[in-house]
Amino acid sequence: MKLLFILALALPLAAQLPSRAAIAGSNLDEAAIERGGALFATQCARCHGPAGRGTNPATDLIRSPLVRREETSEKLASHPNATLTKPQINDLNVWLKLLLFSVFSKGNQDFLNILTGDPRKGERFFTANCAACHSVKGDLAGMGEKYDPTVLQSLWLNPRRAKTPRTVTVTPPGITGTLDRIDEFTLVLKNPRREIPLNDDSKVEIKDPLQPHYDLYPRLTDADVHNVTAFLASLK
Ligand code: HEC
Ligand code: HEC
Repeated sequence: MKLLFILALALPLAAQLPSRAAIAGSNLDEAAIERGGALFATQCARCHGPAGRGTNPATDLIRSPLVRREETSEKLASHPNATLTKPQINDLNVWLKLLLFSVFSKGNQDFLNILTGDPRKGERFFTANCAACHSVKGDLAGMGEKYDPTVLQSLWLNPRRAKTPRTVTVTPPGITGTLDRIDEFTLVLKNPRREIPLNDDSKVEIKDPLQPHYDLYPRLTDADVHNVTAFLASLK
C-alpha cells in the first residue's frame, strides 16, 4: 500500500496529485498526509478520482462546499460508502485539505496556465453572477494590481473565512454572535465569547455570508474559473 502511494506521488502532474512542493508548503502533518492519502487511494479514489476531482459534480470534492469549509467530519462519519474511525476521518480531512491546497498552490499546472482565460467572457460572467454583491469600481477596484494572479484566483474561489465570520443565533438562551465552532453537543461563539451546550430542544440558525460563493461551485466550469480570474487580473 505504501509503495502504491509513493508511486502515485511520483506522478503528480499526470494525475494532478499534490506535488512534493505542495506538501512541504502546506504545513500539514506529513504522517497524517501519508495515512490519509493511502486511505483515500484505496477507499475513495474509485468514486472521487485520485485527486478528488470526481467524475461528476456530486463527486468533485475540490468543488464541494463542505470540503472548502473544512466541515467534512460529519459527512464522513455517516458516508453511505465508507465506514471510518475517528482517527481515519482526521487523516482524511488532512488529505482533503492538502488536495485543496495543491489546487491553489503555484506548483499546480492549472496555476501555471492561470491567465489563459478570456477577460471579456469573464466580465460577462461577473455581471451576471457577482455584480449584485461586488463592484469593480468599489470593493474589487484595482484587484489585478494588488494581487498576484494565483492569490487572486484563490481569493475569489475561496474567500478568507477569517475576514468573514458566520453569524449564529441559538435558542435557548436566545443569543446571537459570531460562530467559532459547533458540533453535536456544543456551540462555541467567538464574539461574545460563550460556550453553549446543545440538546434536542436547541434551535440553531447559522447565517454564512459566503454561502453564495459555495453555491456557485457546483456549476462553475473550468472555463468560467479562468475567464473570471483573467477579468479580475485586468482590473488595474
Ligand atoms: C461508491 C462511491 C463512493 C465512495 C467509495 C466514496 N464516496 Fe464520497 N460520495 C459519493 C457520492 C455519490 C457522493 C454525493 C452524494 C452524497 O453526498 O452522498 C459523495 C459525497 C462525499 C462527500 C460530501 C461532498 C459534498 O459536498 O456534499 C465527501 C466529503 C466524500 N464523499 C468523501 C469521501 C471519502 C473521503 C471517501 C473515502 C473514505 C468516499 N467519499 C468514498 C460516492 C462515494
Ligand atoms: C450574494 C453575495 C455574493 C456574490 C453573488 C458573490 N460574492 Fe464574492 N464575496 C461575498 C462576501 C460576503 C465576501 C466576503 C467579504 C468580503 O471580503 O468582501 C466575498 C468575498 C469575495 C472576494 C474576496 C475579497 C477580498 O478582498 O478578500 C472576491 C475576490 C470575490 N468575493 C469575488 C466574487 C466573484 C468573482 C463572484 C462571482 C463569480 C462573487 N464574488 C460572488 C459575497 C458575494
